[in-house]
Amino acid sequence: MNMDELKRQAAAKALEHVRDGMKLGLGTGSTAKHFVELLGERVAGGLKVIGVPTSETTRADAQRCGVPLTTLDEVDRLDLTVDGADEVDPALNLIKGGGGALLREKIVAAASDRMIVIADDSKWVPTLGRFPLPVEVIPFGLSATRRAIADVFAKCGLHGEMAIRSGKDGHAFVTDGGHWIIDARLGTITDAPRLAGLLGAIPGVVEHGLFIGLASTAMLAGSQGIRVFE
Ligand code: 5RP
Repeated sequence: MNMDELKRQAAAKALEHVRDGMKLGLGTGSTAKHFVELLGERVAGGLKVIGVPTSETTRADAQRCGVPLTTLDEVDRLDLTVDGADEVDPALNLIKGGGGALLREKIVAAASDRMIVIADDSKWVPTLGRFPLPVEVIPFGLSATRRAIADVFAKCGLHGEMAIRSGKDGHAFVTDGGHWIIDARLGTITDAPRLAGLLGAIPGVVEHGLFIGLASTAMLAGSQGIRVFE
């Protein structure tokens, strides 16, 4: 079975947890896109849900699939968010942001009673850090922000390389919020909660891709079937 089929299987498994009347956070990325498509089929069959997309790409996908949408300003809380991840560790801490949507993804996940992570099982790691950590930054004062980020890495015993993410046009990739992303190759992150706290305190850092304590369930599809971690 190829990777894309595994992603769709994980998405289908998460769909089993969707009930009539739910307010849903809709993640971003190739796995979350499968979920949106499958959800659209259920909506066409009469399921009544409403979704909050975590990116303009997901908004367009959801509209194409006939999933009714709202905004976080119009609902109090969300019942469930289903999203992909770039890495998942045994504590269900995550690295996200490979698709550049980490800011809205984190806001939506934090406003949800429950977050199910869906992925193929290559995303499962004993310790976070193999995937470059995305850090969303304000372009203004970037050199100062970079130095502050480097100081935080050093304080955490990490000495990674940082690179501004490029877009398809060769210029800096611009997020839906109009910010840039620094991808930091860190290697093993031994204390992800501490790193998350320190990065979050830097002026100029809008958000980072460490999702600590937000996921309640991970559904990882592999050749042996789907493993569910809670
Ligand atoms: C986007 C994300 C994605 O969920 C993450 O990159 C995983 O994507 P995919 O399902 O395509 O592997 O965090 O910002």
